[in-house]
This record gives sequence, C-alpha cells and structure tokens, in this order.
Amino acid sequence: MDWKSFWGEGMELTKEEREMLEGKQGNAVKKSMEILVALGEIYGAKRLIGIESVQIAGVSYHNLGDAGLEYLAELAKDGKARVLTTLNPAGMDLKDWKKLGISDEFAEKQVKVIEAFEKMGVTVTCTCTPYLIGNLPLYGQHIAWSESSAVCFANSAIGARTNREGGPSSIASALTGKTPEYGLHLEENRQAQVKVKVNAKIDTVPKFGAIGKVVGERIGNKIPLIEGIEKATLEQLKSLSASIATFGGTALFHIKGITPNRTSEPRESIEVSEREITQAIESMSDTEEIDFVGVGCPHASIKEIQEIAALLKGKTVKKEFWVCTARQTKELADKMGYTEKIEKAGAKIAADTCMAVAPIKGKYRGMMTNSAKASYYAAGHNAFKTKIGSIRECVEEATK
Ligand code: F3S
Repeated sequence: MDWKSFWGEGMELTKEEREMLEGKQGNAVKKSMEILVALGEIYGAKRLIGIESVQIAGVSYHNLGDAGLEYLAELAKDGKARVLTTLNPAGMDLKDWKKLGISDEFAEKQVKVIEAFEKMGVTVTCTCTPYLIGNLPLYGQHIAWSESSAVCFANSAIGARTNREGGPSSIASALTGKTPEYGLHLEENRQAQVKVKVNAKIDTVPKFGAIGKVVGERIGNKIPLIEGIEKATLEQLKSLSASIATFGGTALFHIKGITPNRTSEPRESIEVSEREITQAIESMSDTEEIDFVGVGCPHASIKEIQEIAALLKGKTVKKEFWVCTARQTKELADKMGYTEKIEKAGAKIAADTCMAVAPIKGKYRGMMTNSAKASYYAAGHNAFKTKIGSIRECVEEATK
C-alpha cells in the first residue's frame, strides 16, 4: 500500500508536517513522523502539538539488545533532537562501571547506545528523575516522557501533560519536537475516576510506596482522587508516583490539597485502611537474609544522599550497598563531601544506572530497599527476595 493512502489521512497535518512525513527533512524525521502519525491515528488524535521536552526510556543495553542498538544507530545517521531530551538510567555507571562488577562486553555495547544518543544531540544524562536535574516542565506544558514514574510525577505533582510514551515514540518526539494530541494531553481525560479515602497515616517513603501499591492494585489504571493524606515531601511523591504506576498502571493521580491539577469529583469511591497499608508492606518483606541494599528508586535526591551520608558516618557496611542517582546529583554529592562519607563506609554511589536495569540477576539473593517499585522489580526481574524499610532501616541493615 502507498503510505500516503494510509498515514496522515485522519489527522490534520500542517504543510511542514506533511513535508516531514514525506522525507523532505531526512530519513530519521520521516521515520519519526510515521510513528507519531500512526499513533495519532490509532488513538484518534486530531493533530500534532509542540512539546517542551522529552525523556527516553529503554536505554539499558540489557533491555535494548543488538536490534535496539541497530535501530538507534540508523536514526543517528541524520536525526537531531529538536527539544531538550534526557535519558532514563543506563545499564551501568557510565564512568565507574567496573566498581559495579559490569562485564567488558556489556560496557562496550552500552557505550555504543549512549554514543548513538549523543550523536542525535540528546543530553546524555541517564536518570528517571529528570525533574531533579534540569529537565523540569511547568504546569500545563506538554511533554513526551516515557519512564513510568517520571511520567506519573510530571502529570501529578507538577501538572505537566504527557502520555506514557514507549521508547520509539519518545525518540520520534525528540527528533520532531511533536506528539499527537490525545490521552492525558486533553483536559477531559485528566479527571479523577475513583475517590480513594485513606484511613491510615501516610507519612514515610515506604508508606507512600505502599499506598501506591494498594491503590494501584485495587483500581488499576483508573485516575484516583486520594483524600486523607495531610502533607507530602518531594521524595514521598516520587515514591508514590513510581509505585502507583508500577502496581496499577495509571499515569496520573490527584491528592486533595497537595497536587495542583483541578478535577471533578468522581462518583465511584473506595476506602483504604491502616491494615491494608501494613499488609502491603509485609507483602514486600519476605526475607531477613539480606545481601544487597539498594536505595534510589526513583533516583535519589540530594536530600536523600545527605541523609544516607549522615547515617553512615563512622560506620562500615557489611553488605553490597548501592545508592542510585543521577550523575549531576552525584557531582553535587561529591562537592558536598557526601560521596566521600558514603564510600568510606564501603557503600557505592551508582550514577546513571539503577538496580533494576543493571545486569545483577543471580549476584544477590535478598535485597532491602525503601522503594516499593524497586521491590517489585527485584522480585520479578531479578528473582530476589525483598525487605522494605526507611533509609534509616536500610542503613541499619547494611551495617549490622
Ligand atoms: Fe528509576 Fe530504575 Fe526505579 S529507572 S524508577 S531507579 S527501577
């Protein structure tokens, strides 16, 4: 079939967009437009809209494989990012990968992946918390992000607008500066569908992770309006965004009195009890035999690193201990002396990567973490048993 009779018939494209689709701006732009227009057609978008920034997931060679690497190399021949674009964690610390026990073969392939992105003009900062290091959209801005926790944080805590993009569609948006207007880009699709009355005290990062698990499991990908949480820190919302997206699949939540989006009141409602929160925490704690401690899912903020450094002062860890974070946050931690304290205790700051995308399957058996999402991936992806607790409890476990 001639592509012209298939693509671009239902959406209104501008003259420039038609030319992009016809290949007048190069092969990478043509391929990208084909992806975006096809998506728009499938989801009933009427047009493409401009975006402020992109965040690309699927960066680890562990997930991409050789086929993914070839696809990127092809796009990099003439593709250039048109808006600020950052990357999700890679499969290794791009500088200190040897200290994490990564093989030379893996490192070589991972470097090629990063080089392809670099060639496309992507800002090669590898983090799932781009909003902490300069890729920070404002309320109401349209973006095309793909990491589920970052998508949920951007939509819910900031009030920016993004669907949960796949790797290829987010790259397509980077190379064109556009996304189809459907789903969470439209006000009518951002309204709460279920009211969630929380009858429990939600005041720690693990509890925010647990409420995300409970709500996600009970209402799936419906948008909740959560009531009964008095206040929240950035770190707590980061944790909730990760767990509710992981366990339920929603890309947006509202919390009465805390998140900025307006919403109508939903008719359907459920209640969550203290007992359910306790059970959720217990369900993520199925071992006492810990040989790996991982903090920083989503990537640790400088405040969390400061806390870990203070707790580790004068102590020695007896287990493998990773603090996962963005390279820029690590550089700030270096400057503040936190890295030195953490490394002196025998723990490691793993920049650019995380415990879910690094190839560590089979190396450890029991992981302790403060993150519900990390516990989900550790159990599923890496077949670890897990235990969940606060940063303080993680440090106690690592040093006891
Ligand atoms: Fe980020 Fe990895 Fe967790 S990408 S959200 S640290 S699983």
